[in-house]
Amino acid sequence: GITRHYKFNIRLQNVTRLCQTKTILTVNGKFPGPRIIAREGDRVEIKVVNLVPNNVSIHWHGIRQLQSGWADGPSYITQCPIQTGQTYVYNFTITGQRGTLWWHAHISWLRATLYGPLIVLPKRSVPYPFAKPHKEVPIIFGEWWNANTEAVINQSFVTGAGPNVSDSYTINGLPGPLYNICSPNETFKLKVKPGKTYLLRLINAALNDDLFFRISNHSLTVVEADAVYIKPFRTETLVIAPGQTTNVLLKTKPNPPVNSSFLMAARPYFTGRGTFDNSTVAGILQYGIGNPSPKNLPVPILPPINATAFVANFSSKFRSLANSQFPANVPQTVQKRFFFTVGLGTNPCPKNQTCQGPTNTTKFTASMNNVSFILPTTALLQSYFTRRTTNGVFTTNFPTTPLVQFNYTGTPPNNTNVMNGTEVVVLNFNTTVEVVLQDTSILGAESHPLHLHGHNFFVVGEGSGNFDPNKDPAKFNLVDPVERNTVSVPSGGWAAIRFRADNPGVWFMHCHFDVHLSWGLRMAWLVLDGKFPNQKLPPPPSDLPTC
Ligand code: C2O
Repeated sequence: GITRHYKFNIRLQNVTRLCQTKTILTVNGKFPGPRIIAREGDRVEIKVVNLVPNNVSIHWHGIRQLQSGWADGPSYITQCPIQTGQTYVYNFTITGQRGTLWWHAHISWLRATLYGPLIVLPKRSVPYPFAKPHKEVPIIFGEWWNANTEAVINQSFVTGAGPNVSDSYTINGLPGPLYNICSPNETFKLKVKPGKTYLLRLINAALNDDLFFRISNHSLTVVEADAVYIKPFRTETLVIAPGQTTNVLLKTKPNPPVNSSFLMAARPYFTGRGTFDNSTVAGILQYGIGNPSPKNLPVPILPPINATAFVANFSSKFRSLANSQFPANVPQTVQKRFFFTVGLGTNPCPKNQTCQGPTNTTKFTASMNNVSFILPTTALLQSYFTRRTTNGVFTTNFPTTPLVQFNYTGTPPNNTNVMNGTEVVVLNFNTTVEVVLQDTSILGAESHPLHLHGHNFFVVGEGSGNFDPNKDPAKFNLVDPVERNTVSVPSGGWAAIRFRADNPGVWFMHCHFDVHLSWGLRMAWLVLDGKFPNQKLPPPPSDLPTC
């Protein structure tokens, strides 16, 4: 491989959306941010310069970061944030993976505007396991707030209530014609030729919503998920959770009507409680020339907002390609088993404050195994790997099963209160791990896109209701389960994942809904060094930011 150099100047930029101009954080003045393109085996060096008043760090979502944990990017987990005027060079080699990934800011809610595609092409000599497409197009879904997004989440911390929902969804940063826009330039347009195959690299960068996606009068063939090839399947409608990426092939019509156009559209899948937004972002798929008026185009018909059965069926279609060239190395045996509940809970309202949480004496929080994770004021990885001690920064007793017994059906336990803590699970190098992730439904059932840093995992099982340890494991797929970095734990259901802890470092695992992440639905794994030099984390780079 070669080394690819990028420079990310984090700077302010005025951007107009929904008829309002707002100053946002950008990379190099671009929104969405620039594309990183590399090949499997390449080294990538990104020099990030912070020219804004905010602290920032950038995460390369889905990159394995083998032996390069210092470059992973989540603030207060692997690094202290890059402060104003500071620079940090992220340096990693892309090993054993290829496909669509992305990068985003990993502090507060700054990823609302700091995000972009990270595309890993196969090695030159290795073709795709499908016919070479005519063109490749990244399509990133996002969410736009007219307000400052840090203020939106900080407001929720103060009131204890849910944060304000976004003002629009976006496709490649653009809200589209179904919103109140002031310029036709605020609509994403994909110009296509008849009778060709396009590879659409779909990325859900929305902060808080699973999305349905469809293109009128066209079907799609899904070929890859989270940068791992899958057995291709056809669908009209897709579901994609925040943090997930999906590659689809779009075959254009051989003989479309002259200068015809079609709408593509996305809108949320949501079963949770509280306020939600069921608005639709649309873009245009255009054959030929001219300026189609999107007003006259039919909007694709998407499932209703709470179409849980549709989502479960869609999710069951994903199977690893699992051939000799791209095998699925599913751990067949497991050394460590965990059962984690994921969901919302409550914390008491601070004294002398009225809260607008579930009751006026409580505020919303979110937790795993009833522990709401508090970010330390220094970075876990830094604190551990430079001193080999927890140093009072964190404890190693993250519970392996829920603190509040999880044995109810239907009626949630009375005690919804969660405890706060900065707790990790320590794993020896190369441990095989199974985690059953169970949505608690305590304050309403809701899906949770759980994302693991530094590893891919296999989704060996999924189901609705409560996981049954006596019956469900017998149904696990250990042959060709989908391999991903983000699994949507089904609303009111469970997902079982397996991975091998073959990467020394501290690895964040959290809900990729930023509201739940901010409320504490997060924990970390501390994977210890192995015996041999290639099983150890090298010392930190000299420019690693300090807190
Ligand atoms: Cu895409 Cu921890 O994030």
